[in-house]
Amino acid sequence: MEKILVLDFGGQYNQLIARRVRECSVYCEVKPYTTPISEIREFGPIGMIFTGGPNSVYDEDAPHADPELFRLGVPILGICYGCQLLAHHLGGSVVAAQSDAAREYGKTETFFDTSCRLFKGLPERGVTWMSHGDYMERVPEGFELKAHSAACPNVAICDETRGFYGVQFHPEVNHTEHGTDMIRNFLYEVCGAHGDWTMGDYKETAVRSIREKVGGGKVLLALSGGVDSSVAAALVAEAVGSQLTCVFVDHGLMRLNEGDEVEAAFRKWDINFVRANAEDVFLSKLAGVTEPERKRKIIGEEFIRVFEAEAKKIGAVDYLVQGTIYPDVIESGSGKAGAAVIKSHHNVGGLPDYVDFKEIIEPLRMLFKDEVRQLGRELGLPEYLVSRQPFPGPGLAIRIIGEITKEKADLLRLADFIFRDEVAKAGLERTMDQYFAVLTNMRSVGVMGDGRTYDYTLALRSVTTSDFMTADWTRIPYDVLDRVSVRIVNEVPHINRIVYDITSKPPATIEWE
Ligand code: XMP
Repeated sequence: MEKILVLDFGGQYNQLIARRVRECSVYCEVKPYTTPISEIREFGPIGMIFTGGPNSVYDEDAPHADPELFRLGVPILGICYGCQLLAHHLGGSVVAAQSDAAREYGKTETFFDTSCRLFKGLPERGVTWMSHGDYMERVPEGFELKAHSAACPNVAICDETRGFYGVQFHPEVNHTEHGTDMIRNFLYEVCGAHGDWTMGDYKETAVRSIREKVGGGKVLLALSGGVDSSVAAALVAEAVGSQLTCVFVDHGLMRLNEGDEVEAAFRKWDINFVRANAEDVFLSKLAGVTEPERKRKIIGEEFIRVFEAEAKKIGAVDYLVQGTIYPDVIESGSGKAGAAVIKSHHNVGGLPDYVDFKEIIEPLRMLFKDEVRQLGRELGLPEYLVSRQPFPGPGLAIRIIGEITKEKADLLRLADFIFRDEVAKAGLERTMDQYFAVLTNMRSVGVMGDGRTYDYTLALRSVTTSDFMTADWTRIPYDVLDRVSVRIVNEVPHINRIVYDITSKPPATIEWE
């Protein structure tokens, strides 16, 4: 398989670069800039991309490229800091921009020389996304200038003979017009890629290697019903069938019909599917608990206990499957300080203490979320599972403000279903990244028929976001909101008022608890 190495110099868009490469059907991995040359040789990339980074190449402690990298005979695309590294190491010079004009941030009109392989077939002018305070004062020998902006004569440099390209802007971000096309040109025109990274092929390879690894062994997996654990389960099911036991812990705080849907999706495989219906246990542990973090902790712990109890019945296994995906691997591997912990996320996937297994397998470890979904489709999982919106591990528990009761969970389940149903009927699912109902613990006066009511207020929440770190509230058309509101107050008992949450994140979070 053809591989690209994304060499990480600390830029904030590194994952995005890797995703773009994979979107172009070429496999890539992100590795730290300190990766030894021997490991890079062994990896055998057909091309390398040097990422951006927060430093200046002339800083004392700036991360530098091993000069050997330039002698591997492998094409290089340097992005932003990566571009300045090329200039710095190959005989050019980089200085702090003297004028504000040469320091470029944001959308910048840029002019391209389309005779350069990087810009082949693209328009001669377009908007690029810049974010640099340094400037290439002198371009290294053998390099030519291939793009400019009003403020900067050397927006892109290239040495076509060696296949070295550098761009000051960020082709990986959406704000850069034709950015992905430039990356594709680098991959196909410069590195000679053939596009051999497809999920169909990956499925075959992964199934084969899981079979080889597991042999006749027993495998255990905790299924949450989320995309990652479902796809991991399907992949292992495809590979080793009846040697797999999936323990699906239904905590009773799922959405309407969710448990049955998950169970149905796995009928096609001959696996040992254990559904632990633990609603009563969870609800009794949660009785009287109002504090959100406490709810999370109880659910996280109880989940593990129920899983362990089921696992004990099965006895010793050889492998435990985890649904870790590539963004988690990149984040933990690059040693970056984690973002401040706003909420503890007790998810399925935490390691149980008393399960008897020898080794963990993580079959999705190298895949991005989009790829996981695509793999799920290849494996024949239904669309409602693979394209579902994120659903928090603690489920409806953190969408029922205050104390949780079965009655409240049932009301919320129904209201949430109606909201999702109307969104689907209006064809709006793709415009909303996460949307759900929240049962507030506020009650207010209403009238129904001739009578006065004193019932719950339900909140609708919908956000549009690419990373769930920041989010904007979705501008749902009024007529859709109206239909949702009318249906909920008519069809769900004890809800007499509907409000729509119009706060972005920050300052609000996506969930209410
Ligand atoms: P917030 O509310 O922090 O949510 O803006 C960001 C994303 O995280 C999800 N979320 C959770 N997921 N366990 C999870 O598995 C949790 O405890 C949890 N809390 C929030 C939330 O649904 C959104 O997608």
